Amino acid sequence: MFGHLTAMPSDPILGLLTSYRNDNNPNKVDLGVGVYKDESGHTAVLNCVKRAELHRNTTENSKVYIGPTGSELFNSEMTKLIFGAEHKVLFENRSRTISTPGGTCALRVAADFIQTCKKGATIWVSNPTWANHTGLFEGAGLQVKVYPYYDYENKNLDFDGMLNTLKQVSPDDVVLLHACCHNPSGMDLTNEQWQQVVEVTKMVGFTPLIDMAYQGFGAGLDEDAYGLRLMADAVEEMLVCSSCSKNFGLYRERIGACTVIAKSSLAADISLSVLLHGVRIIYSMPPAHGAALVETILSSDELRNEWYSELKVMRDRINGNRQILVDKLIENGVTRDFSFIARQSGMFSFLGITPEQVQQLQDEYSVYMVGSSRMSIAGIAKSNVDYLAQSIAKVL
Ligand code: LMR
Repeated sequence: MFGHLTAMPSDPILGLLTSYRNDNNPNKVDLGVGVYKDESGHTAVLNCVKRAELHRNTTENSKVYIGPTGSELFNSEMTKLIFGAEHKVLFENRSRTISTPGGTCALRVAADFIQTCKKGATIWVSNPTWANHTGLFEGAGLQVKVYPYYDYENKNLDFDGMLNTLKQVSPDDVVLLHACCHNPSGMDLTNEQWQQVVEVTKMVGFTPLIDMAYQGFGAGLDEDAYGLRLMADAVEEMLVCSSCSKNFGLYRERIGACTVIAKSSLAADISLSVLLHGVRIIYSMPPAHGAALVETILSSDELRNEWYSELKVMRDRINGNRQILVDKLIENGVTRDFSFIARQSGMFSFLGITPEQVQQLQDEYSVYMVGSSRMSIAGIAKSNVDYLAQSIAKVL
């Protein structure tokens, strides 16, 4: 049965974890997987999370099955976080949110839901998009097509290309949009551009699926949800996949959410039953721990405020790192213009070098980034940015 198998290549993002860990160079720099790191390169547990864990340890009194929807309190708190407490979809009772094992399972559950709506449906993703999107959607039986997004040449958004393609999409198709902190390019739509995308969505009638894995890492919790909320105002049906990995630092706890918005409350209930059918088949029910922490934080004024402050520290550090790298490259004699890095937002930017140069950075300087030259900006620190800029200067 297994004899004919050939080994799969390692994952373009997660594969870097092992190579980095096995590298003995004391100067090694990790700009690979999208995780927040502090100045010392450590991914600490947030203090609000520690306090929520203490609370959970003393109050949890059962490990009985949680059920496929996950925790109701988590689901309602996440709904408010995503849409804002005053959004019309909440008053119209047209949204249903379920807890999922990370944002990845939210996407998988959404993909299976789309497959039930329309077998083999086409989903459009941005060029480029998160490296796992295509495999994940194809694995669920969907057909993946791409719309122009990042202009590699000009380090900008190809917004005309994007809109023109979206105007040609079929009303039966799904279009995946990144809510904020576009992964991997760091290039986000402005509010005005979102307004145009929402207009095109209404005009063409395709279904938007919004992936929000970095709420709070761009400009702020509400600012980052601007486009998503505008879209939810304008359309009757939509899907949202969100993640608590980055903004709550709960990576390994695997907690995210999948939200469906339907035309009516009844239609939302029917959609929920279809989502839950998918959940039962894939993983039965989500783990409870991460959701319990998030709901404890979001439902306590004190812990929520602490989380806001801790999130701001992470956001400011990442955004500050962008300018520091640009300045250091100039200091090290690099004449090529890298100023676009400081204009982008969120965890990632493309450095814009060739795969060979990326490999050279890794082999000769122990600087790790994804082969596409996607850098996780959080891996930059005062202690390594000189070495990083010098290494980049040497391979250019
Ligand atoms: C990333 O893009 O680096 C993160 O979302 C981690 C992952 O699972 O790929």
